[in-house]
Amino acid sequence: MNEKSAVVIGVGNQKGGVGKTSNCIHIAAALGTRGFHCLIIDLDPAAGATKHLGIPVDRFAGTLELLTTNDSIENLAVTESMPEGVHLVPSRPQLSEIDVRLSKYVDRTRILERPIAEARRKYDFIFLDTGPSAAFTTTVAAYSTAEWFLLSAFPHPLSLSGLSEVFSDIADVRRYRNPDLEILGVVFTSVDRRATRLHSQLDAAVSAALPGRRFENSISQAVILPDVSGVGKTLFQLSNWHSIPTAQQYLRLSVELEWRVRNREAFLAGTLGTIDYAALGLHDEFGALRCELLSVNQ
Ligand SMILES: Nc1ncnc2c1ncn2[C@@H]1O[C@H](COP(=O)(O)OP(=O)(O)OP(=O)(O)O)[C@@H](O)[C@H]1O
Ligand SMILES: [Mg+2]
Repeated sequence: MNEKSAVVIGVGNQKGGVGKTSNCIHIAAALGTRGFHCLIIDLDPAAGATKHLGIPVDRFAGTLELLTTNDSIENLAVTESMPEGVHLVPSRPQLSEIDVRLSKYVDRTRILERPIAEARRKYDFIFLDTGPSAAFTTTVAAYSTAEWFLLSAFPHPLSLSGLSEVFSDIADVRRYRNPDLEILGVVFTSVDRRATRLHSQLDAAVSAALPGRRFENSISQAVILPDVSGVGKTLFQLSNWHSIPTAQQYLRLSVELEWRVRNREAFLAGTLGTIDYAALGLHDEFGALRCELLSVNQ
């Protein structure tokens, strides 16, 4: 692998069960399919990403060792049976003991710095999948280390209260700890395309709170997502993924995410141009099947 310089993206929302992990692993797998190298660090003691990716918890050392010893990403990342281009540092329930394992002299906000410095050289994208609490030591460390945060929400009126808590936490982190942290966007998932009134209200609320940060691409409600996670796979590991509309939605979302990350200054200044998906061969989420767009080799 050539020397790289990854971007670090925390994925979260303090609410539980709002698609954080499904988005994290599918965006990473979509980028992997397009030729990028992605690392997912599972920072949740409930080990959502580990389970969704079919890795038995307790079989491997992982995040707990990464954050409490000098063990390397190279040793701890699982590379077998993963989506193409994706590696995973797995979690397990003992991660909840991290505060006991770390001595009182350790600054908990900095525990991801050493491993992230190693991983930046080896990957294009590093995703930090956080659990549903801002109080977890690992969530605090993710806020303190990432340069982007990707928020995930189900389209429900209650989502807005969860999102506003994250916005205010991120504002605090930026003020006191990590001025480089920016909100990459809010992804709405499990969207029922018939509930147009609810969507326009949520769109309006998110756009007012965070102008320009809602992702144009959202993910439909799709029973195939719980089905594949139940068997420990992503959609991109199915032989017919090209013809699965939800996989196409994640592919387009991965293009939009990359577009924002690559053009950080313009995005943050609100001057980022629109993406011509048709020129990239992605006509709509049900349409074109080409995936070699915007490959890293171009
Ligand atoms: N677009 C979707 N359509 C239908 N079901 C979905 C969709 N996205 C996610 N789900 C399902 O919703 C449930 C919660 O999703 P997920 O585990 O990704 O959420 P989470 O926010 O990471 O949860 P936690 O807070 O427990 O970590 C899972 O069963 C998942 O398969
Ligand atoms: Mg999760």
